[in-house]
Amino acid sequence: MKKDFLWGGALAAHQFEGGWNADGKGPSVIDVMTAGAHGVPREITETIEKDKFYPNQEAIDFYHRYKEDVALFAEMGLKCLRTSIAWTRIFPNGDEATPNEAGLQFYDDLFDELLTHGIEPVITLSHFEMPLHLAKEYGGFRNRKVIDFFAKFAETCFMRYKDKVKYWMTFNEINNQMDTNNPIFLWTNSGVLVKEGERPKEVMYQVAHNELVASAKAVIIGKKINPDFQIGCMVSHVPIYPYSCNPKDIMAAEEAMHQRFFFADIHVRGVYPNYALKEFEREGYQLEIQEEDLQILKQGTVDYIGFSYYMSTVVKADKEQDNLGDVVNGGLSNSVDNPYIETSDWGWAIDPEGLRYALNRLYDRYQLPLFIVENGFGAIDVLEENHQIHDQNRIDYLSKHIESFMKAVDYDGVELMGYTPWGIIDLVSFTTGEMKKRYGMIYVDRDNEGKGSMKRYKKDSFDWYQQVIESNGESV
Ligand code: BG6
Repeated sequence: MKKDFLWGGALAAHQFEGGWNADGKGPSVIDVMTAGAHGVPREITETIEKDKFYPNQEAIDFYHRYKEDVALFAEMGLKCLRTSIAWTRIFPNGDEATPNEAGLQFYDDLFDELLTHGIEPVITLSHFEMPLHLAKEYGGFRNRKVIDFFAKFAETCFMRYKDKVKYWMTFNEINNQMDTNNPIFLWTNSGVLVKEGERPKEVMYQVAHNELVASAKAVIIGKKINPDFQIGCMVSHVPIYPYSCNPKDIMAAEEAMHQRFFFADIHVRGVYPNYALKEFEREGYQLEIQEEDLQILKQGTVDYIGFSYYMSTVVKADKEQDNLGDVVNGGLSNSVDNPYIETSDWGWAIDPEGLRYALNRLYDRYQLPLFIVENGFGAIDVLEENHQIHDQNRIDYLSKHIESFMKAVDYDGVELMGYTPWGIIDLVSFTTGEMKKRYGMIYVDRDNEGKGSMKRYKKDSFDWYQQVIESNGESV
């Protein structure tokens, strides 16, 4: 691997910071989401209800312990840390005229701490953290005013951290919302709930348009502030395989992949893909797309593609439709199990080879540098009496994925900027709100009900990853 390869770890403010109302922070869309479990959806409540448990509000309390945690990241040898800036620390309601200085200062302190330890911050502007006020009062990204609120938030961050942060991403996994069968995706991506009588896909495409314009605006603004910024998009990439060589399965997979590629196609090329325009026409979707928006999309294209890779899936053309709303299958009605691969306890397919395939497909399509900004194994860990955690299953998962991307780089010639495995320290699961679905190489003593000492312990994977980084991948 090249010498400056960015080995790191990935996190998101709402899943690990806690301090949800500290120092002037406002509530975000995630602060009204209760805990669920595998197969039990998280509830989105109208307001914050006293007798309900909202696991993200305290999370793992990084907000008050960041120095201790950053020291551990440094000990692991991380070259970069991907995290997000909680929008509501900076603009508590989203529509204020001036930002919250205490929130800005927190990230100044955090970035300084990282830089002092030689860790480069890689920053997502919005990782499911829209101000609740914007969702409630403005309808989230249904409303074009939110485009400008986001642009202002982006500009504020770019200006403030222009000398501390070089790598940025606009919206995390912006393409989750393509699955309109599960309400958490439109809610967390865009602050939107579909109303009765509305056509979910039509709502989604309108919201997506506004959000893509907001992203492009941010890119344009950022480049003016510091032309050296590298600003990327962030998509969830789940390769969708055809079940067989039956041409019908091949075409079913191709159509499903269009849905996956839609967002990155616009982020990268700055124009709507024809398959989408045809869909709008076929379905009679009435979308407000202004001429000026199309210019902005064209100008605000991204420098690189950040993506998450956890699993692949499979579609079968003649499958009876029954997977709607299923997180694991991305809501694809015709997805089926892959007989060649195993799954995690949460049903996520474990497919290291699929990462090399993903890298090749993305690189062939876009010819832009790629950055694996999430990948990991959510599993139950056992804290032994001596505070050891033997997470060999995680080491196996990660080793195989690293081998796979190294092959994509060394053999296929894919341009890869870095690798930041997800949840480098245990945090709250996004889809389930659980703590027991752990990804970290650092264990946090906290359970699903929010009980525990919050103490941090190194897992076996901690030393293993330290070696991987030190040897630039050779020790895998
Ligand atoms: C991605 C998100 O969907 O996957 C993260 O960007 C999330 O926020 C991660 O935590 C893993 O998903 P989960 O549901 O296992 O936490």
